[in-house]
Amino acid sequence: MIVPVPLRLAIVGAGSRGTGYARRAVAEGATITAVVEPDPERLAAFLVEFSGQPIERFDTWQGIAGRAERVADAVVVATPDRLHADPAIGLAEAGYHLLLEKPIAPTEEESARIVRAAEDAGVMLAVCHVMRYSAYSRTLKRLLDDGAIGQLVSVEHLEPIGWWHFAHSYVRGNWAREEESGPMLLTKSSHDIDWLSYIVGLPAERVSSFGSLLHFRPENKPAEAAARCLDCPLQNTCAYSATTIYRGFLGDETFERWPLAVLTTDVSAAGVDRALREGPYGRCVYDGQNDVVDHQVVNIEYSGGVTASFTVTAFTELDFRKTRLFGTTGSIEGDGRTLVVHDFVRDEKYEVVPETRGNASAADGHGGADDALVHAFLDALRTGDRSGLLSGPEESLATHRIVWLAEEARRQGAVVTIP
Ligand SMILES: NC(=O)c1ccc[n+]([C@@H]2O[C@H](COP(=O)([O-])OP(=O)(O)OC[C@H]3O[C@@H](n4cnc5c(N)ncnc54)[C@H](O)[C@@H]3O)[C@@H](O)[C@H]2O)c1
Repeated sequence: MIVPVPLRLAIVGAGSRGTGYARRAVAEGATITAVVEPDPERLAAFLVEFSGQPIERFDTWQGIAGRAERVADAVVVATPDRLHADPAIGLAEAGYHLLLEKPIAPTEEESARIVRAAEDAGVMLAVCHVMRYSAYSRTLKRLLDDGAIGQLVSVEHLEPIGWWHFAHSYVRGNWAREEESGPMLLTKSSHDIDWLSYIVGLPAERVSSFGSLLHFRPENKPAEAAARCLDCPLQNTCAYSATTIYRGFLGDETFERWPLAVLTTDVSAAGVDRALREGPYGRCVYDGQNDVVDHQVVNIEYSGGVTASFTVTAFTELDFRKTRLFGTTGSIEGDGRTLVVHDFVRDEKYEVVPETRGNASAADGHGGADDALVHAFLDALRTGDRSGLLSGPEESLATHRIVWLAEEARRQGAVVTIP
């Protein structure tokens, strides 16, 4: 299954993620040979950005799957969550290796079908659990494997989404309604539940969870607030004012790529104001367009009694995850950049600083993790050696299952056993 160089990639869904992966793949010497993108403005922007590439446009993924000769060596599937299953299965059946955005799919049934299709076709399926790939995660994993804190006993992990990021994606944006994408634990924190499994390195056995939509509700809307932030008398005092948030990103290249490019392809002051006037991102956060939780906790018990507690919340700055790990002979405190190891035997603390690039946001490639994932995927294609891919399809499916069962636990108020 070794693929000749230069590698050829097709992009299905040339939005934020699809375009980002294309950019990274081209930087690694790959060629973009095909694209499927139904939004004409996004397609045009993609074709302009990659004008040096020999890109063939297809109206649908079926066009690629049905072509007798191969148009690429692998396909990046970065469509919205509910549109993963059909292209992933169809393209796997057509023999294409897949880089598939997370979540695999919103339901277990669809996700299992995708994994089975890839296995039956013998193609590589890498799910974009980018957090596993950061230098920070790899360093932490190495410290644990080397016994730096003895036997790991418990983990405390925080995912600080960031107040404006939560309002952008989970109140006003694509992941605001469960029926359109999935529960927030799946659409956002499937990364973290997967990461905890990677770090702990043991099968999860039981899970419990609490959480709700506490703040972004109509009953919390101030009486004088308007439906659109641009018309709102509170726009200078509201933490969630779209006017303040989005205008504040103008002129910053990183934030213009994300989140501003999600609002509009015209990333100018006038273009952003037009999006705020007409589009979903200018609406009041208290108008009830959303139903996913804004905070949640999950407790997991792994094989042998190792435990993890996980908190995800909207009410923070957008920052790297924070993790504390407690072992029998030491502890580690990590802030996403630096790991502080406390060695109990010598009662000494020392710092380990992995190479982390940029900030924690998707716009900045998750601190270098997006680059590392693309590198690992291309390397696996080039060499046929999948060992650089840090999780196989079955493992990704297993960690998604923990998420679905945590949701079951939250809804039922129960402790759920993981089969
Ligand atoms: N790994 C991560 O950290 C991470 C971060 C953000 C999003 N995601 C996931 O990546 C995926 C894409 O998210 P995004 O932020 O790029 O969203 P996006 O809306 O920017 O991009 C999705 C693109 O798919 C296109 N599309 C819609 N229907 C299509 C179809 N039938 N065929 C081809 N293209 C189609 C849309 O027009 C859009 O351009 C989602 O599953 C999302 O949950 C992952």
